Amino acid sequence: MDIRLVTDNKQSFLPLLLLADEVVGMIEKYLDRGELYALYDPDLRAACVLTDEGEGVFELQNITVLPEYQCRGYGRKLVKHLVDSSKGRAKVLMVGTGDSPMTLPFYQQCGFVFSHRIKNYMMDHYDQPIFEDGVQLFDKVYLKMDL
Ligand SMILES: CC(C)(COP(=O)(O)OP(=O)(O)OC[C@H]1O[C@@H](n2cnc3c(N)ncnc32)[C@H](O)[C@@H]1OP(=O)(O)O)[C@@H](O)C(=O)NCCC(=O)NCCS
Repeated sequence: MDIRLVTDNKQSFLPLLLLADEVVGMIEKYLDRGELYALYDPDLRAACVLTDEGEGVFELQNITVLPEYQCRGYGRKLVKHLVDSSKGRAKVLMVGTGDSPMTLPFYQQCGFVFSHRIKNYMMDHYDQPIFEDGVQLFDKVYLKMDL
């Protein structure tokens, strides 16, 4: 298994990243300026995007494991890689997600703790309603990890 920093043709990862963030326009806001990491074992299994938000804050913008490979520890390995590669470059790692029981427990298992909540973020920033597992998402919940 290896995790690679992707610098060329980042757009080719859009279909995978769309599984976590379903609006291309939102992904394009962070894909160019972000560090894209891809996990191979030996084929592509997962990817994530890390951005520098300034003042010692890095943010995990997107993390996606291919559906057939979820719940096998790949997500946790990617997060650990991001934490290790962020140490010494940032003080805090943030992640924002829909208020969903599908994703919050994953981040908590990886060591993130609740930071704050932005009310109605999904309504204000997406043109269409966002659903996860049949439940509409409204707020964005931020979690953080000290590095
Ligand atoms: C969320 C996601 C990245 C997790 O990756 P993963 O490889 O499936 O997760 P892991 O196997 O590394 O799980 C790590 C830990 O989190 C837990 N976990 C993962 N998803 C969970 C869930 N939905 N509910 C409860 N716990 C969960 C696992 O049980 C595991 O804990 P353990 O080691 O104590 O057993 C992956 O499921 C995914 O790509 N989902 C679709 C895209 C998405 O929603 N991305 C997040 C957008 S904000």
